[in-house]
Amino acid sequence: MFTSNPFADLANVIPQSAMQAYIILMILLVFGGTVIDMIHKKSAKFFFANAEKAKLNAKREVSGGEKVSLAVSTLTNEVLTSGEFSNPKRRISHLFTMYGFIIFVITTVMQIWASPLAADATPTATLWWHIGAAMLCFGGYWFWFFIRVDVAAEGRAWYDLVKADLFILSLLATCTFALLWSFNRGGNMGWLFFALFILSSTILFGGVLWSKFAHMFFKPAAAFQKKITKADGSRENLPATYDLTDPKVHALFPDIPEYMGKNPENMGLGIKRESPNHY
Ligand code: HEM
Repeated sequence: MFTSNPFADLANVIPQSAMQAYIILMILLVFGGTVIDMIHKKSAKFFFANAEKAKLNAKREVSGGEKVSLAVSTLTNEVLTSGEFSNPKRRISHLFTMYGFIIFVITTVMQIWASPLAADATPTATLWWHIGAAMLCFGGYWFWFFIRVDVAAEGRAWYDLVKADLFILSLLATCTFALLWSFNRGGNMGWLFFALFILSSTILFGGVLWSKFAHMFFKPAAAFQKKITKADGSRENLPATYDLTDPKVHALFPDIPEYMGKNPENMGLGIKRESPNHY
């Protein structure tokens, strides 16, 4: 069951070329949706204008080598290990959802492009297709029922829906119905689950303009740019982090020694006082 390619059974009814055409159409929809999203929200224009503004406020120039090392750290921290999440539960759930999705997409392509398209053609890819879908369901349902901010912190019910939930719900529906289809192949229920699988995946890939899908492309760029603004000293116009015991800082802000003494305790970031349980 877990190693028998479900798309091979499907090939009796739907030609392999039609399945491949569907995948290509989904890739085009994601590409088109992301480009239209950027044009519509003017996000790319804002991003580059903001980057130019930051350059004008830069205190120093960031060298090419430094940029490469910041890009590598963005890749290893924010992209590959979801390092932006302070709440460990959110981080682990995001890792399951993200890697589950990547594995599911890659193995779907491997199975559909198998030549010949036979049940036993891609046992490893098929096994990982099931594992990827299960990983996404684990991370996604955990997020949906227990971690989502409005549910966990604001006490809203898990079934209160808003448009922004389109992404997580279509992700969950796609992988849930893919698994149900695979387990019920051949029967009438199998066809029902297959139809729901295709419907939800079309909403997932066709709904990029309205959902949070494109964050997987935008977030890495934003995380990299944030590191650049820290490195070049422009800091998005935020004040520097001062050492409150430094006499130069006392000269700049005389009220510090007046009210807090010459050696004030470093109390750290206010935002870190409470452990990040919700956000
Ligand atoms: C295969 C790729 C990915 C998948 C399937 C995925 C999935 C998700 C999901 C389901 C959420 C919760 C959305 C919601 O609130 O409804 C989320 C949020 C988030 N993701 Fe991803 N993600 C992916 C890639 C990435 C990458 C590459 C980054 C960063 C470099 C990233 C950073 C974030 C951040 C910071 C949030 C929280 C902020 C927000 O909710 O907008 N994700 N992601």
